[in-house]
Amino acid sequence: MGCYMGIDVGTGALKAVIIDETGEVCWSHQVSYDTDAPMPGRAEQHPELWLKAYDEALYAASKYSRIGDVRSIGFTGQMHTTVVTSRTLHALRPAILWSDTRASDYGTELRQTYGDRYLRRLTGNLPLSNFSLLRLLWIRDHEPDIYRQIEAVAVAKDWLRDVVTGTRFADVTDASGTFLFDVPHRQWSGFWMQEMDIPTYWWGASVESATIVGALCRAPNEMQGLPVAAGAGDQEASSVGTKLSLDGDQIGVSLGTSGVVFWPRDTPQPADHPSIHMFCYADPNYWHWMGVTQSAALSLQWYHETFFPGVPLATMLRDAESSPVGARGLQFFPYLNGERAPLNNPKAQGTFMGIRSDLGRSDMLRAVLEGVVYSLAHAWRMMSTPDASRVHEIVATGGGAQSTVWIQMIADVFQLPVRVVNDPGAAVGAALLGAQAIGEPCLPVSTSHPSAQIFIDPHAQSHYPDLADNYMSWAQALDKLWRSNPGTL
Ligand code: XUL
Repeated sequence: MGCYMGIDVGTGALKAVIIDETGEVCWSHQVSYDTDAPMPGRAEQHPELWLKAYDEALYAASKYSRIGDVRSIGFTGQMHTTVVTSRTLHALRPAILWSDTRASDYGTELRQTYGDRYLRRLTGNLPLSNFSLLRLLWIRDHEPDIYRQIEAVAVAKDWLRDVVTGTRFADVTDASGTFLFDVPHRQWSGFWMQEMDIPTYWWGASVESATIVGALCRAPNEMQGLPVAAGAGDQEASSVGTKLSLDGDQIGVSLGTSGVVFWPRDTPQPADHPSIHMFCYADPNYWHWMGVTQSAALSLQWYHETFFPGVPLATMLRDAESSPVGARGLQFFPYLNGERAPLNNPKAQGTFMGIRSDLGRSDMLRAVLEGVVYSLAHAWRMMSTPDASRVHEIVATGGGAQSTVWIQMIADVFQLPVRVVNDPGAAVGAALLGAQAIGEPCLPVSTSHPSAQIFIDPHAQSHYPDLADNYMSWAQALDKLWRSNPGTL
């Protein structure tokens, strides 16, 4: 009977899980770390923190009674987060996180210089501030001493996996988020790297997610030599963990730190809207579209920590039910870290609009929850091609999906029923990819907490389409203002 381990290098913590042959999580461990935000728009973490957390998690795992049954290990983590290193994979500076927007001007420049058609043909995407290439260009211009020393570059989970296996690889899903990858053909774009003066040897060889890339060499004795799978970015690994349908009839909505609308596709056709990513999926025959709102559960966390420190989250959330649909006219725009989809504007700001003296804290809370859902629906609108009518269900994941009131809003605003799977997290998806990589049969999804289905509430449904339209009109008007008035930051 085999078990499989997954490691998720998350934004707030490293999470390790072991799943058994039924897909059930039988052991887990989490080690938190902080993000440095030296100024607005910046977010950094030192990769040594991830390594320390990994060592701690593996030490804890080595004490687990079934550790001898573990057959493989898969990796996942925050996407785009870029580490520049020496030849020995020693980080030359802190990693620049996915949420960091310092390099956004390089995206504008690339689009002006090369044109959207050309860039899409090469990479399948248009450049946004989260892509690794833009961070490299920023380091080249602002930290030339560091740039000159670069011998290797990797996205977070690839760096950690390379260090603990002594190999160099990049899985296709995370490679997709570098803007140096030919996503349609699932290979590095040597031509584009040359054009950008980026040495190809900086990056590990690209492989599909469920591929064994080496054996674990930095580990307690009990785990030495375990086969290691390349794994996938956290969004793709989560979708693997929830067994999201690949037929295009379901979309995934994740309410994690960031919020994501995720739609598997069987052809590498880029989305029309510049802010929607087209990346490789963790299956060689599939790609996916992805719209990301930068601050989803982060908006709720900010509200909670700022106004209700010490109050249990569940208690605070009950308050939202005392405010009606539409939060009595109060609107919240969740752009605490600028916005990716669909505004693609790092200067976008978190905003409450319509504050009146008769409104109370339950209205403010409801507005925060609704604002995040509207922003996800706004991204989905940019993905809605005619075949969107095939989508009949949303699969909701992420910490925020534990809130029934939030999930009900998703059903009512998107006008689709929502299936909430017990949140297995990306680490479970990574463990499943590891199992697949060693040829184990496809494991079932954990069944300990049956998934719940949330149906559309007809009363709320009759109000939300107008409210969502109103939000989107205001978001576009505010976007223009933020762009024309750079002094507002
Ligand atoms: C996806 C993205 C975020 C991070 C969060 O493009 O940037 O969802 O993966 O960890």
